[in-house]
Amino acid sequence: MTAPTPAAPRRQIFVTTALPYANGTFHIGHIMEYIQADIWVRAHRMCGHAVNFVGADDAHGAPIMIAAEKMGKTPEQFVADIAAGRKQYLDGFHIEFDNWHSTHSAENTALAQEIYLDLKKAGLIERRTIEQFFDPAKGMFLPDRFIKGECPNCHARDQYGDNCEACAAVYAPTDLINPYSALSGAKPELRQSEHCFFRLSDPRCVAFLEQWTQEEGRLQSDVANKVREWIAPDENGKPRMGDWDISRDAPYFGIEIPDAPGKYFYVWLDAPVGYLASLKNLLTRRGQDFDAYMAQPDLEQYHFIGKDIITFHTLFWPAMLKFSGRKAPDNIFVHGFLTVNNGQKMSKSRGTGLDPLKYLQLGMNAEWLRYYLAAKLSARNEDVDFAAEDFMQRVNSDLIGKYVNIASRAAGFIHKRFDGRLGEIAPDGDQLLDLLRAARQTLVGLYAEREFGKLVREIMALADRVNEYVDQNKPWELARQDNMQARLHDVCSTCIEAFRILTIYLGPILPRVAKAVEDFLHTSLGRFDAVDQPLGKGARIGQYQHLMQRVETAQLDKLFEAPAPNQTAAPANAAALCGEALAPTIGVDDFAKIDLRIARIVDCQRVEGSAKLLRLSLDAGETDASGAPRLRNVFSGIASAYQPEALKGKLTVLVANLAPRKMKFGVSEGMVLAASGDDKTEGGGIHILELGAGAKAGMRVR
Ligand code: 2FM
Ligand code: ZN
Repeated sequence: MTAPTPAAPRRQIFVTTALPYANGTFHIGHIMEYIQADIWVRAHRMCGHAVNFVGADDAHGAPIMIAAEKMGKTPEQFVADIAAGRKQYLDGFHIEFDNWHSTHSAENTALAQEIYLDLKKAGLIERRTIEQFFDPAKGMFLPDRFIKGECPNCHARDQYGDNCEACAAVYAPTDLINPYSALSGAKPELRQSEHCFFRLSDPRCVAFLEQWTQEEGRLQSDVANKVREWIAPDENGKPRMGDWDISRDAPYFGIEIPDAPGKYFYVWLDAPVGYLASLKNLLTRRGQDFDAYMAQPDLEQYHFIGKDIITFHTLFWPAMLKFSGRKAPDNIFVHGFLTVNNGQKMSKSRGTGLDPLKYLQLGMNAEWLRYYLAAKLSARNEDVDFAAEDFMQRVNSDLIGKYVNIASRAAGFIHKRFDGRLGEIAPDGDQLLDLLRAARQTLVGLYAEREFGKLVREIMALADRVNEYVDQNKPWELARQDNMQARLHDVCSTCIEAFRILTIYLGPILPRVAKAVEDFLHTSLGRFDAVDQPLGKGARIGQYQHLMQRVETAQLDKLFEAPAPNQTAAPANAAALCGEALAPTIGVDDFAKIDLRIARIVDCQRVEGSAKLLRLSLDAGETDASGAPRLRNVFSGIASAYQPEALKGKLTVLVANLAPRKMKFGVSEGMVLAASGDDKTEGGGIHILELGAGAKAGMRVR
């Protein structure tokens, strides 16, 4: 990476981070990736390059659809609620995406459909009929993770459809003994369905991927080696890389396949397209032409990702782009996982996890974390450990002890003794500053190579040299000698200039501090070439304000303190509650918002076209304008457990103030309460709440 000069033009760069699933808040692993990419982007901007840095929510797929249904929300509402929580994390850690969008968007629908049709035109889409498990109660094909049964290998019960957690055997869902749907408990049926496949085994794809993935200087070496094994032909010379099933049957929360109504793109087909969709949304809002931007021959495209999603980004995604007539990415930057306190597996209940929101809420400085992660990150695909002691030690000794102290030691004298104006740089100071300035190309190169750990060490070695200069010249002693005031002025001015240069170098990692230093020194530090533009004699600087506090042990204790049992989202013994984790704690006020009423089931009917629903007519003691009893119409997913006749006349509990919900069969005006459990266990299935005689329709339940 070099600063643009007539010989090194301003580069056009498009950068993304992996799109997080829209079914949960950010965890510290997301934040680490975003910080890594944000530092890299800021460094390129400080060289004068034009970077567009975008993210988005990965909103589609069966798990999100099912999670939304469980919460009684539409998937659209569910993902919108998650999206609304993103800003506090991104702002809090100074992660400056140019745009945050969603794969559930008009841009993504259009782009995914276009890419699919282009791949089809290239002869790389094929239809095949496959057999899959179908849940007759839910009326849907089941993803592997939603089929459970007995392991065919060790006979452990309740194992997932793709692998056994007891003996680690890997198998197909059809190998399970006594399979059942994890959604409804129903016995799944094998049904045939036509699916669309992307023919990755086509010799064109294999040849392209062999070349693209193995090109010198492209992927990290361990990543390239792994990918080579996936592509290499098997012992019989046949392609090892299978074709990729890119379709799913309705019901599915996703993008419909244009020439296959009722079929949707598998979430991993449209997820990376979301990179382009977010960029398109950004450019359109700015009045720029997306197609023209993408057609620039020298546009560079980079994706930061974690090591768990290498296949999608080094095989499927480049092939999708290439064979739909687009340019494959320039590179994929893979990082390892973040572990906490010596590789302990994260667990909220044991307090060993690092909750990024708690970090911010405790008032801990986001730049401590940015600096610490930078110090630990390299260009390699290796795990990074956050160790509390090490964090405190590095921040306090490097950032406060070595860097911030330079300014705090020099600025007071400039202000008090020299009217806030800088003096000359003494000859020995010039030598020091030359050394600092000479480091620029090396440091900029380390930013470009993502060698942030090495970079931080180099910058701290420079800070050591500045502190040595301070210790040799002892400004506090010069200050006591009347004939040494000019020397004091020059030494302190040298220190301020050195501090300015160090701040420029740290700018991508510490953007807030850099901003504060700009205000303090009344100058702009937004580009690396500013290291060669000293403030100069007579420049006025502001009064030094403390730039950063030290990390205190008490803060780390709090950060890793196990939450009190009643604040625990998922207590360690959550399994005791019928295998379902306890929902997050709510207050009495939250509970009071739910208006629960006794309701008499006046009538109950099956719903034509739904195996799951019963239609209930409920008397909750309401009357219409004329005073006649008004009945509520409520659809309830209890058909697998009750004959309609058996429910008539019973008293149950109605959520009376639930917003009416328009369903395929009519409007549902509330919800009746029922317990549900795993059908396979004793007492499993669905149990509607029933009240003994004596309760009156309309009574409030508190
Ligand atoms: O693994 C994940 O969290 C995926 N949601 C990442 C998608 S990255 C891109 F392809 F969208
Ligand atoms: Zn097993």
